[in-house]
Amino acid sequence: MSVVIRSTGAHIPERRIANEELASMVDTTDEWIRSHTGIGARHIAADGMQTSDLAADAALSALKKAGVEAKELDFIVVATATPDYLGFPSTACIVQEKIGAFGCAAFDVTAGCTGFIYALDIAASMLEAKKGRHALVIGAETLTRVTDWTDRSTCVLFGDGAGAVVLSRIDEPGRGVLKTMLGAEGSGHKDLVLVQAPRTKTFERSEATVPKIYMDGKNVYNFAVKSITVLMQRIMHESAYHLGDFAWIVPHQANARIVQAAAKRVGIPEERFFMNIEEYANTSAASIPIALDEMSQKGLLKRGELIMLIGFGAGLTYGAAVLRW
Ligand code: ACO
Repeated sequence: MSVVIRSTGAHIPERRIANEELASMVDTTDEWIRSHTGIGARHIAADGMQTSDLAADAALSALKKAGVEAKELDFIVVATATPDYLGFPSTACIVQEKIGAFGCAAFDVTAGCTGFIYALDIAASMLEAKKGRHALVIGAETLTRVTDWTDRSTCVLFGDGAGAVVLSRIDEPGRGVLKTMLGAEGSGHKDLVLVQAPRTKTFERSEATVPKIYMDGKNVYNFAVKSITVLMQRIMHESAYHLGDFAWIVPHQANARIVQAAAKRVGIPEERFFMNIEEYANTSAASIPIALDEMSQKGLLKRGELIMLIGFGAGLTYGAAVLRW
């Protein structure tokens, strides 16, 4: 028995803001953003589009490719830091309604930018425990809604988008999700925070009450480089894999410099890390499934090859998954 990613899907909002356009809104330059982050553009969800809309679109695309109908799903997990509603209901329940998967279980996972890895691990464990046959695992964000567009140190970093995978239990041993590793360093929880602004007495949502991102960039940078390095070393140590066995490492797309530094530390070529941050910026929990969908469309994911997914983010959380495609 194996739990495999059967298909991928993504939704990238049409509206694209290149660095040059951003430089007309805030005191920055294309050169600074590219040299410090590797980002060239980001996509922004249209007015009225919620995280669940992006998620549902990515999910329908993945379901179509898998040949699985929404009503066959046993559960839906959405990883997001920007749910439609704060607290409840979960975005997964709204996605369930939008894709017509009535009746199946639906819940959200919050683990910052590591959310997709956490969600994948939970979903794979549930399928392995025979709590169903097909699941949807989605990473979806509308981070630009909680971005302070006057703060040049953070507003250049983020974008919106969603990625989804259909996860299925099949009778082919040795494929799919082979190993996962999750962790957190709660002592760093203040380094990356979505600060809740006070509500007005009438509970109206105005600019002044929209939450905003606070980040200690240097601490997060150091944590991220350490996380990638330590996760890769631990996976090698605890298993029979060697770094050379992996066709691709798919990291959370936070910052190209983080990946360059980690690649140097572990001693593998940077080209082995799949990167698409230049086009989409940091889409938090959506970045890994968006990357998988792009890789799938480009024919980069070949049956039988080993890949490693690596996430790190607010919490501070980290996680990795080894898959045989
Ligand atoms: N444009 C121009 N100048 C800027 C900008 C900008 N957008 N942002 C900051 N600066 C300036 C600062 O004001 C500062 O100027 P000063 O020296 O005159 O004071 C100078 O650039 C250097 O600022 P630093 O904050 O020291 O810049 P640094 O080199 O550390 O880069 C960055 C900032 C890119 C955020 C870096 O800290 C980093 O990579 N952090 C990792 C965090 C990250 O990528 N987070 C993504 C989200 S978290 C996640 O996904 C896990």
